[in-house]
Formats: sequence, C-alpha cells, structure tokens
Amino acid sequence: MEMKIISLFLYLMGILCLVYCEKFRFDNYTLYKIYPKTEIQISLLQKLQENDLNLDFWTDPVPNAKYVMVLSSPKNKESLENIMNKNAMAFEVAQSNIQESIDKELVASSTRMIDGRWNTYYKLDAIYGWLDTLATRYSGVVTVIYGGTSYEGRPIKGVKISHGPNKKAIFIEGGIHSREWISPATVNYITNELLSSKDDKIQAVARDFDWYIFPVTNPDGYVWSHEEFRMWRKNRRPTIGNSIGVDLNRNWNNNWLAQGSSTNPASDSYAGPGPFSEPETRSLSTFISSIGDKIDLYLSFHSFGQLLLIPFGNTTEPIANYHDALHIGKKAMKTLSVRFGTQYVTGNIAEAIYLATGGSIDWVKEREQVPLVYCYELRDRGTHGFVLPPEQILPTSQETMDSILELIHEARELGYMNSGSTVGASILMMILLLITNLL
Ligand SMILES: *[C@@H]1O[C@H](CO)[C@@H](O)[C@H](O)[C@H]1NC(C)=O
Ligand SMILES: *[C@@H]1O[C@H](CO)[C@@H](O)[C@H](O)[C@H]1NC(C)=O
Ligand SMILES: [Zn+2]
Repeated sequence: MEMKIISLFLYLMGILCLVYCEKFRFDNYTLYKIYPKTEIQISLLQKLQENDLNLDFWTDPVPNAKYVMVLSSPKNKESLENIMNKNAMAFEVAQSNIQESIDKELVASSTRMIDGRWNTYYKLDAIYGWLDTLATRYSGVVTVIYGGTSYEGRPIKGVKISHGPNKKAIFIEGGIHSREWISPATVNYITNELLSSKDDKIQAVARDFDWYIFPVTNPDGYVWSHEEFRMWRKNRRPTIGNSIGVDLNRNWNNNWLAQGSSTNPASDSYAGPGPFSEPETRSLSTFISSIGDKIDLYLSFHSFGQLLLIPFGNTTEPIANYHDALHIGKKAMKTLSVRFGTQYVTGNIAEAIYLATGGSIDWVKEREQVPLVYCYELRDRGTHGFVLPPEQILPTSQETMDSILELIHEARELGYMNSGSTVGASILMMILLLITNLL
C-alpha cells in the first residue's frame, strides 16, 4: 500500500515536472569519435567511463573497438581533449553542438501518427493511439496486447497480428533503451508493412506467423527522453540515493551482473539490485513465457552501430546453434545492404560489442529455448549516433524490413521456422490424397 502511494506520488510529481520543468538542453555538447589503437588506450577509456560519470559514453571502449563515441559537456571538453592528446589518441569531433542535431530531429507535435509519414519521430501517446486505431482498422487480425506495466504505471502496449489459429510466433521488442528513438520508429514501420504492404513476400510472412510486437518496452524512459532529457537510457524507478533508473537490458535473469554491467546506481548500465528487479522486465518476461513455446524468432531492436548480435553476451564461445544463427544472420545482412549499401557486422554479443550480460535475448534464448534470437543495433556508425536525422527513418526501416524477409527465408532453408507451414502442407497433402482416392 505504502509503495503504491509513493509511486502515485512520484507519478504525479513526474506529470507536474512534464508541465513545469525546463527541458534539459545540450547546447555546445560535443560528440567525439575516438580511435583507440592500443590496449593501454582502451583501458584508459574504460577507467574514464567507470569513474567520470559526467562523460556520456555512447559506445563502450571494448577490446578491439574500432571507435568509441563520447558526448561531453562544454565544461568537460578541455580535460577530455587533454587526456586524448597526452595519450596520443586519435579523435575527431563528430558533432560540435549536439543540441543542433536534436533540434533537427523533428518530433511530431500531433498526438496522432499520420499514415505514411515516416520522416518524423513520434511521442508515446501518438504511437499508443496508433496501435489502438490498427485494432479497429484491422479488426479480426490485430489485437492490442499488454506486456505489463511500467514503474510509473504506463502500459507496455503492443499488437498481435494473427490471420488464424495454430501458428508459430515472431516476437519483436523495441525501445528498451529509451534514447534509441530509431528502434520504435523502425518497429512501427515493420508493423505497418505487415498490415498494409502490397508486396507478396511481406503478405506471406504476415500470414504465416503470429506477430507479437511491442514498439516501446520502456515507456517511462521514452517519455522522459522526449519531455525532459533526450539522452535518457534506463527506466525511471528511483533506486539508491538520488539515483534514478535501471538499465533494463542488463536486468534480465541470465548471467545477471556477470559482465558489462554496473553496480553503480548512477551509471547508465546499472543492472539493478537483482535480476528482474524492475516491473518492466518482470512483466514483459512473464508475457514472453506465456507464449514461449510458440516463438520461432525473437528480434530486439537497438541503436546504434550497425550490428546484428547473437547470444550469448558472456562468452565468445559458440553456444547452441550459433553457427546456423550466424549463417542466417550474415545472409540477412547481405540483403539489408542491397537497397542503400548499409553495411552490418554479424557476430555474437561478446565478440561484436562487449561482454554484456543480463540482456533480453540471452534470457529468451536460454530460458525459452527460442531457436533464433537476434538483436539489431540499427544505424548509424557514430556520425549521428542516437540522434539519427529523421530523413534516415524510412531508409533504415526499409532496409531492415528487407533483411527480416531474408532472415525468415534463410531460416526456413536451414529447417527453422517451418512447423506452421509444414502442418499446413501436410493437411493439404491429406486433402489431395482424399480427393484423389474419392475420384
Ligand atoms: C555555445 O558556444 C558559442 C560559441 O563559442 C557561444 O557563443 C554560445 O554562447 C554557447 N552557447 C551556450 C548556451 O553555452
Ligand atoms: C555463458 O552463458 C551460457 C548461457 O547461460 C552458459 O551456458 C555458458 O556456460 C556461459 N559461459 C561462460 C564462459 O560463462
Ligand atoms: Zn540499446
């Protein structure tokens, strides 16, 4: 009861703040692209990431990192540049004033999504309203589903697209890191394509599977990133001291806190006080478990870096069907590159980015035994990072849709994702046999 009153209080405070607080501005914040060459340089950046929470590391200084993106306030610029110069680290300024890019991001002020308009980012209300309209427009095919409730009491709203019973499922999770706005945007585009595309291939995959789609799995963070602080990544639950938020993609109950997570509540990759300590991960995982044996493919969308990641995040060892997953992933990324030339790297989490555990895909893979599980790190490779210009929403979405079709196609070639259609095919065979017998 007391908890409820406290959270109601914080929720009301949040609403008050949405109305009265000044939005944080990133004037003259500089985005650096740093090119560490030696292990010493890498470990220096790692220490900086750990100890200097004034610097916002957009990518982690992992061994073999080709580049590391860091956002610095005007106040911290000089000391950061000094450190880089002293240690002969090559760097360039990717954006000299990130606020300018934020101003160009173009967020639709309308509370409704406009059909066919993919050159703008949408707020949570607009997205959620749109999901409701889909259920009306495609009644009998689309139902609104709930993956639980956030700390501040917002629903984790999604849609299920289903053209009939007894189908295997594809699960899509977006927006677990709130500042990665291209993730919900791309997921919404995919949803729209599945429902309205005239492309036969898209229509076929839309019909062959039940699609469970959640564009914004961290709704509180998403609202905060729109209304108050553009670079917000975690959820919004107060933790220890003055700290707020847990990294929801370090909070799943798989090798929790083993690697690439922080125990510091102020850190952006704070894993929380325990596995599934957060209402968002707890309720979403419960939802996933309720349909776990149906899921043939699980896709999680993040940005940025142009990577397609495969479990697990604790080791570079190939585990389970890693080689099949890698083969399918590489084919899909080849197809992704056709339309605009966008290049992705495919690999397991540990080798492609970082030893990082407690993420959703590892849990889904091990606990629910889902055969194919991928995490997309969408565009770009650091030029704009999280502040991807709105004119890139459509191309990013289109190339991603291309890749999903190829992913499914290639998976089927290797014997995955066939159970639904095999049942269909054998029923058809039986009917044919019956008819021929009758004749
Ligand atoms: C940003 O930098 C410019 C150029 O140095 C300066 O004129 C301006 O006042 C700065 N803006 C803010 C808000 O600090
Ligand atoms: C990594 O995690 C997987 C899945 O939990 C487990 O099977 C494997 O033994 C772990 N490997 C290491 C080196 O911790
Ligand atoms: Zn992310």
